[in-house]
Amino acid sequence: MSKSPKITGKSLLVGLIGWPVEHSLSPAMHNAAFADLGLDWAYVPLPVGHDNVQDALKGLAALNFVGVNVTVPHKQAVIRYLDELSDAARTTGAVNTIHIKDGKFFGYNTDAIGFLNSLLEADCDPKGCRVAVLGAGGAARAVVFALARAEAASVTVLNRTTERAAFLVDDLADTFPDSQLDFSPLTNDSLATLNDDIDLVINTTSVGMWPDTEHTPWPDEVPIPKQATFCDLVYNPLETMFLTRARAAGVRTVDGLGMLIHQGAYAFEMWTGQQPPIEVMRQACLSGLVHDPAASD
Ligand code: ATR
Repeated sequence: MSKSPKITGKSLLVGLIGWPVEHSLSPAMHNAAFADLGLDWAYVPLPVGHDNVQDALKGLAALNFVGVNVTVPHKQAVIRYLDELSDAARTTGAVNTIHIKDGKFFGYNTDAIGFLNSLLEADCDPKGCRVAVLGAGGAARAVVFALARAEAASVTVLNRTTERAAFLVDDLADTFPDSQLDFSPLTNDSLATLNDDIDLVINTTSVGMWPDTEHTPWPDEVPIPKQATFCDLVYNPLETMFLTRARAAGVRTVDGLGMLIHQGAYAFEMWTGQQPPIEVMRQACLSGLVHDPAASD
């Protein structure tokens, strides 16, 4: 059973802006970490509608919040109101963490480093790997950024809407001129041609996410490359159909919970200056997943 934070007159505040936020695991994850370290901090959910992003940010500064996480649908919308952006935020065009210092807003994308740290934690260093990224949405941008930064040998982005994959690759190629970035339609044929030439397959699409848990972006007809590691960004359910099939084929798998925890851990460290208790955060997320079938970031 995780401890609850005690709010005092000196409590420091952080939170999550998005819409909706009621199923978010982040309050439980961060508050468990504050309680574990005995920090007088609290993390609160802050539902913010489309038209209120600027007012919400001004309010956070006025109320002396230390920072916030940002989730759907505001990850792009907040950018115009921020004073500075990290490389990852600028390149991916998305901010999931804001740090407020002396009234100034600093925007970060900790999804990228969170994804990389989750791979490293699973003993899967993408350096030198040939990687296939399924999907070309916001999550894929953070993943491709992280892979290029980590010196993957090649990254192929496969997407149902091919133009979106082409746009993503074109966009990131400017930042990573030395990386081998490519795109392809997400079809049986293109997945089949990956075959022996792939070390890591990452699902960044929403296929397989609760409540559509019977679906997988890897079609049954296409053999699973035996040498590859399969990684899913979906963590609800923890064991997606994509991972179940890969495991059944004898392939190594990495689930999506690590990325959620490590993106939060990076934000936690930035706000508090303290080393985050990763295992406590993981347990809080696991417990949240058990109690809320619709749990999200
Ligand atoms: P996120 O920010 O979580 O990445 P997103 O930007 O909406 O969310 O992107 C969702 C990704 O999942 C996209 O790559 C989307 O493919 P399209 O660009 O073709 O829409 C992919 N996706 C969603 N449903 C899918 C499905 N049923 N089959 C294949 N890809 C799907």
